Amino acid sequence: MSDDFFAINGRVVPAAQATISVLDLAFLRGVGAFETLRTYDGHPHQVREHMDRLWKAAAACNIPPCFSETDLRQVIAEILVRSRHPDLRVNIVVSPGDHTVGVFGAASPRWVVIARDVHAPEPEAYAFGVAVVTVPGKRLFPEVKSTCYLPGVQPMQIAGRTNAHEALYVQEDGSVTEGITSNVLAVRGSVVTTPVKNCLPGMTKAGIKPLAIAAGMTWVEDRLTAVDLATADEVWITSSVRELLPVTRIDGRPVANGEVGPWAKLIGPQYRAWSIASAKQDNLRYFNQLDHQQQQSHRQAQQQQQQQSLMQQQQQQAQT
Ligand SMILES: Cc1ncc(COP(=O)(O)O)c(C=O)c1O
Repeated sequence: MSDDFFAINGRVVPAAQATISVLDLAFLRGVGAFETLRTYDGHPHQVREHMDRLWKAAAACNIPPCFSETDLRQVIAEILVRSRHPDLRVNIVVSPGDHTVGVFGAASPRWVVIARDVHAPEPEAYAFGVAVVTVPGKRLFPEVKSTCYLPGVQPMQIAGRTNAHEALYVQEDGSVTEGITSNVLAVRGSVVTTPVKNCLPGMTKAGIKPLAIAAGMTWVEDRLTAVDLATADEVWITSSVRELLPVTRIDGRPVANGEVGPWAKLIGPQYRAWSIASAKQDNLRYFNQLDHQQQQSHRQAQQQQQQQSLMQQQQQQAQT
């Protein structure tokens, strides 16, 4: 049996009991928006930012905001307590709800939280980099995170056949815009270039930007082509779960000397350290604005969670 807990409209249940109607419009018509965030040491990262982006995509689907930051944080805190995972990959999906009349008529919006083990790439992926392929295509409404990832199905099959970690979309004009589930950045000297058109405005890349600038890099938001990538000193992909992941092979050819470059080695760990610290700080800021009773229940949940992860660590140590 799975140890996962999911939530439907704020109610946390064991994964097997998290079921919704077949009339849901995300299922019937592919109308839905979603976000993926992760927790660090039990603290959800960039919650406010993910919610802002979620409501933008939801608006494109005609879905009004249907839960608050407090609702989401409470669900995540409860799942952290009830599940065995010390950290979570959290998918938040919103749909218009069950179909009523016409093409897109719906009853009332539904929000679902799917929280599972983080499943970040193995340390080797950061140490040696990953391979990617370039494939013609683009997402539907690439600037929003809708649930329709259909254009990525074939590219990921192509990536899978060559053991590549990710596929990058190449548009008709030759621009490489983003990965199926990541942003793309290319480094030449100390200049890092990343597209901002026809791609998702990534949270990870937004977090990396000030660190890269502080480290002495020049940040350029511009079009990238396959030639730019093939001749770059470093190529990175970024996403909330993978953070900064160096790419060392594109379409079977090495990027520069085929090794992880110095900027990735510097900025990648900095980004992780910043994420851990900012998730904690953000959680504290949020906690301080709660009223006394809310603070108490939040504190209890966190204590319970800490006790649980301590017990798990002890069990694991006892088994090894
Ligand atoms: C298409 C696409 N681009 C970029 C990203 C990276 O976004 P973020 O850094 O906000 O996770 C994702 C993440 O899932 C994605 O699906």
